[in-house]
Amino acid sequence: MILVTGGAGFIGSNFVLDWLANADEPLLNLDALTYAGNLENLATVDGDSRHIFIKGDIGDFALVSALLAEHQPRAIVNFAAESHVDRSIHGPEDFIQTNIVGTFRLLEAVRAHWQKLPNETPRPEGERGRGEGVSKQSFRFLHVSTDEVYGSLSASDPAFSETNRYEPNSPYSASKAASDHLVRAYHHTYGLPVLTTNCSNNYGPYHFPEKLIPLVIHNALAGKPLPIYGDGQQVRDWLYVKDHCSAIRRVLEAGRLGETYNVGGWNEKPNLDVVHTLCSILDELQPRADGKPYKEQITYVTDRPGHDRRYAIDASKIERELGWKPAETFETGIHKTVQWYLDNQAWVANVTSGVYQNWVGKQYSV
Ligand code: NAD
Ligand code: DAU
Repeated sequence: MILVTGGAGFIGSNFVLDWLANADEPLLNLDALTYAGNLENLATVDGDSRHIFIKGDIGDFALVSALLAEHQPRAIVNFAAESHVDRSIHGPEDFIQTNIVGTFRLLEAVRAHWQKLPNETPRPEGERGRGEGVSKQSFRFLHVSTDEVYGSLSASDPAFSETNRYEPNSPYSASKAASDHLVRAYHHTYGLPVLTTNCSNNYGPYHFPEKLIPLVIHNALAGKPLPIYGDGQQVRDWLYVKDHCSAIRRVLEAGRLGETYNVGGWNEKPNLDVVHTLCSILDELQPRADGKPYKEQITYVTDRPGHDRRYAIDASKIERELGWKPAETFETGIHKTVQWYLDNQAWVANVTSGVYQNWVGKQYSV
């Protein structure tokens, strides 16, 4: 059994679906179901007895302690977080609460549980009963983090490596940096067997349409403006979400304790290029009724305050040490993604009803 937090969000739900497709091992999914968490993402595993969903907060020490005692997971993968940079600028409080205080309380519950685990060498997989065989040595806490903790690169800087200094610039990235430091400290101080991954921008199915790629697809189809912050020349390094999931599985399997692994697909693109690519794919797959190109909907808007200019991930450590490589190129992944959104317009309509309406369109003023 493994425990996944935030498994109803974008990356977490893709991880849960892939886990259940690839392994027989059951999975406990703890998610607070904020605006970003959506059980519809997990509809295809509804009724699968290997998936146990619990609605709850990672910061609820009593709940997490009880879940750990009852289910005795061998590993925890911590996805749960507030994840949207723009929201962190408009209101940082939730980011501090979940990403810092929540991660701290989760670590406290995990530490108390882990300290009671036996030291014995576990018996082989096939001979174990539930909970048996999990030892202090075999237990893992994998913390899912971001490349944004490293700050912003200039055009000539080398890509972020694991030894780069932390220089977070937004309330979101500062809160993630704080959580990474706590995870590191729990390893250094208490010996908790932790692993941390720092990944670049993900895209793919179930991506909430507040983020650039799904927002542009959604707005294009709805005939709305495609907002480009500033000059649109900011660079992000894109990774198909399923490749991020396979990297996390690999790090969980073979990562060295206390290490951090950068995860990325060597796919740096300026935002404007990404938006042009999305427009061209839509022109091909679902042309506008008036025959005009979707790029006519592109609209330049006020820049995000403190906008990081460039992110780029040097993924050579995970490739060299763990033999991980992404399966998708940007070209294959982005086509699949646009097709997924065209095929799942009911999902889009559901997640963009309600609270979404109060958020989108909230742009920055000069
Ligand atoms: P998301 O916003 O789509 O999902 C977050 C999930 O966490 C939601 O299901 C939400 O309900 C849940 N959650 C929020 N607060 C919670 C709490 N207090 N207790 C329990 N559950 C809670 O985020 P995502 O894009 O899937 O990102 C997942 C993780 O990956 C985050 O830690 C994020 O920092 C990291 N990450 C994201 C990207 C990316 O491009 N999206 C890249 C690198 C790293
Ligand atoms: O790098 C990893 C990070 O990637 C993750 O840690 C975050 O959780 C995730 O949200 C993402 O952060 P970004 O800020 O890079 O993603 P976002 O999709 O919000 O924006 C991508 C780029 O597009 C960024 O330069 C801002 C720009 N943008 C975004 C939106 C929503 C626009 O120009 N217009 C928009 O409407």
